[in-house]
Amino acid sequence: MTDLLSVRGVTKRFGGVVANQGISLAVPHGGIVGLIGPNGSGKTTLFNSIVGYHPIDAGSIALDGREISRLRVPEIARLGLARTFQQTRVFGKMSCLQNLLVSVPHVHEGLAAMCTRQPRAVTERAREVLRLAGLQDHLEQRAADLSFGQQKLLEIGMALMNEPKLLLLDEPTAGVNPVMIDSLIALLRDINARLGITLLVIEHNMRVMMQLAGYVYCLAHGTVLAQGSPAQITADSAVIEAYLGAQP
Ligand SMILES: Nc1ncnc2c1ncn2[C@@H]1O[C@H](COP(=O)(O)OP(=O)(O)O)[C@@H](O)[C@H]1O
Ligand SMILES: [Mg+2]
Repeated sequence: MTDLLSVRGVTKRFGGVVANQGISLAVPHGGIVGLIGPNGSGKTTLFNSIVGYHPIDAGSIALDGREISRLRVPEIARLGLARTFQQTRVFGKMSCLQNLLVSVPHVHEGLAAMCTRQPRAVTERAREVLRLAGLQDHLEQRAADLSFGQQKLLEIGMALMNEPKLLLLDEPTAGVNPVMIDSLIALLRDINARLGITLLVIEHNMRVMMQLAGYVYCLAHGTVLAQGSPAQITADSAVIEAYLGAQP
C-alpha cells in the first residue's frame, strides 16, 4: 500500500539559506511519525512545504499517492490535510465553541454560508471535538481565559474540524506543564486510535516521542540525519551530537 504522505527529495531555499535539502520521508496510513532536530534544522519549513504555504524548489510531495506540491493551501486542506502551529493560534476573544466553528474550511467563504449549510451537524461535531479534547466544560469560555495547555488542546480541536486524514503538529507540547503534556499525549493517541487520523509530529521532548511515535526522523541542517524507532534515535550518537552541538 502507498504511504499516506510521501516526501521525496524536497529542497526549499530562502535566498541563500537552504532550509530543506533533498529531504525524503514517509508517513504510513494510520501511523504516528515523529520529526525532531535542533532549532533551525528545517522542521517547520518542511511542514510549510507540505501544507502548500510556499512552493518548493525541488522534489515531490504526495498525499495518498496524489502529487500535491503544486497545489495551494485550501486545495491541500480539502484533500484531508490539517496542521497546528508552533505559535498557538486561537481566537482569544471568541468562545471555545466559536473557535471550532470558524475553523470549518468553508466558513472562510462566508460565515453566513456555513450557518445556512448544516449548522446542526457542524455544531454537533464541535461539541464532540471539545469532549474529545476534555474541554466540554469550557464551551462558552473565552479562549484567552484558558490555560496555555488548554489552548493547545483547543488548537488541535480546531484542526480536527476539517476531518483530516493527516494532521501535522508543530511542537504541540512546547511550553506546556507536565500534567497537561499527559493530556496532550492522551488526546493525540485518541485522535490516532479512535478517529483513525495519521499524525506527523514535530516534538523535542523525547519522553513524548517515546510514548507516541512508531518511527522518528531527525533533521539537521536541512537534511535527514537519522531515522528509526524512538529507541534507536535516542541512542544514535549523531543525533545526540546534533542536539548537544546546537546548544550555546
Ligand atoms: N520565511 C523564511 N524566510 C527566510 N528564512 C527562513 C524562513 N523560514 C525559515 N527560514 C530559515 O530556514 C531555516 C530553518 O528554519 P525552520 O524551518 O523554522 O527550523 P525549525 O522549525 O527546525 O526550527 C532557518 O535558518 C530559518 O532562519
Ligand atoms: Mg520550528
